[in-house]
Amino acid sequence: MYNKKAVCIGIVILVALLSSPFWVGLFGTDYKETGVVKPNQDACVEDAAFMRAQHMRLLNEWRDQALRNENRTYVAANGKKWEISLQNTCMKCHTNYAGFCQKCHLSNSVSPYCWTCHIIPTEGK
Ligand code: HEC
Ligand code: HEC
Ligand code: HEC
Repeated sequence: MYNKKAVCIGIVILVALLSSPFWVGLFGTDYKETGVVKPNQDACVEDAAFMRAQHMRLLNEWRDQALRNENRTYVAANGKKWEISLQNTCMKCHTNYAGFCQKCHLSNSVSPYCWTCHIIPTEGK
């Protein structure tokens, strides 16, 4: 005794759910907007949209540059130079780790393992 209509709707919903990581990605909102506390500076190293989507890759690139190529200077798209340092660059502006990095990560179920070695800023906790 199946209700065919209900089964069809069920399948459509299932397919939509399973493929959602794919089609949500197409519209560029692949994670939740969280109302993070932004620092009191004009701008990030790169623009906000780029940072939102690419900061993990940027950090990997920074680490590789610093450790493999001994290059400690990053030249941003706008030509501005930054010291390659998680601690002294990123976290100097983003002092509110709990209200910024962590807030967004928690609501997206990401937990970067960086802080077993790198130091979490405690200001604004
Ligand atoms: C000079 C200060 C400064 C530095 C250095 C800096 N940021 Fe930012 N960051 C900001 C500001 C200000 C914003 C908000 C920009 C906006 O909304 O236009 C921001 C935005 C971001 C965002 C996007 C947040 C959102 O709106 O979703 C991420 C992620 C981020 N920063 C991570 C980093 C990382 C990782 C580093 C180091 C590679 C870094 N920031 C270095 C000031 C800085
Ligand atoms: C607006 C949301 C948001 C903010 C703010 C944010 N992140 Fe993230 N971060 C994410 C998401 C989502 C991922 C996972 C994305 C992925 O895997 O593609 C991530 C992944 C990472 C990763 C890689 C983790 C892994 O295991 O691969 C690192 C490192 C990281 N973030 C560092 C930071 C740091 C440092 C800050 C603060 C300066 C920060 N993030 C702020 C959303 C955010
Ligand atoms: C097992 C310990 C360890 C872990 C875990 C770790 N790092 Fe590092 N990282 C180091 C050490 C040691 C250096 C070298 C410091 C130096 O030479 O200045 C470094 C350097 C870096 C650098 C370049 C130099 C600097 O001062 O920032 C970046 C960027 C970086 N790590 C990012 C990350 C990110 C992002 C994560 C998490 C996804 C992470 N690291 C996890 C130990 C670690």
